[in-house]
Amino acid sequence: MSANDVVVKLEQVTKVYQQDSMAVHALCGVSLEIPKGNLAVLVGPSGSRKTTLLNVIGGLDTPTAGRIWVARTETGRMRKSELSEMRLRKIGFVFQEFNPAP
Ligand SMILES: Nc1ncnc2c1ncn2[C@@H]1O[C@H](COP(=O)(O)OP(=O)(O)OP(=O)(O)O)[C@@H](O)[C@H]1O
Ligand SMILES: [Mg+2]
Repeated sequence: MSANDVVVKLEQVTKVYQQDSMAVHALCGVSLEIPKGNLAVLVGPSGSRKTTLLNVIGGLDTPTAGRIWVARTETGRMRKSELSEMRLRKIGFVFQEFNPAP
């Protein structure tokens, strides 16, 4: 598959949340490619980190390590302002919970 045919790519993505003195390893080396024009469904039991993964793909959160590309642009290491711009132009979210604008 050429880079042009891939809309989302993750390479060894990890996400570690710091909760008080405890490290929560939420994503441990996730690699995947979603081809352009495909409908992808993320399925798993409650707590299996689906929202965590969608948040880092969608630029609402940043990965602790690893690389992420959305539409061939590397987003995993973007600043907050760049992520906002990317979300405005390229991402649509339907939130699981009610998220009123501040
Ligand atoms: N901000 C955070 N701080 C600490 N731990 C977190 C945080 N966000 C998520 N987690 C960890 O990830 C787990 C849940 O992950 P997530 O919400 O991504 O699961 P989910 O698959 O979307 O669950 P559900 O189906 O219930 O929506 C929590 O149990 C918690 O351990
Ligand atoms: Mg969820």
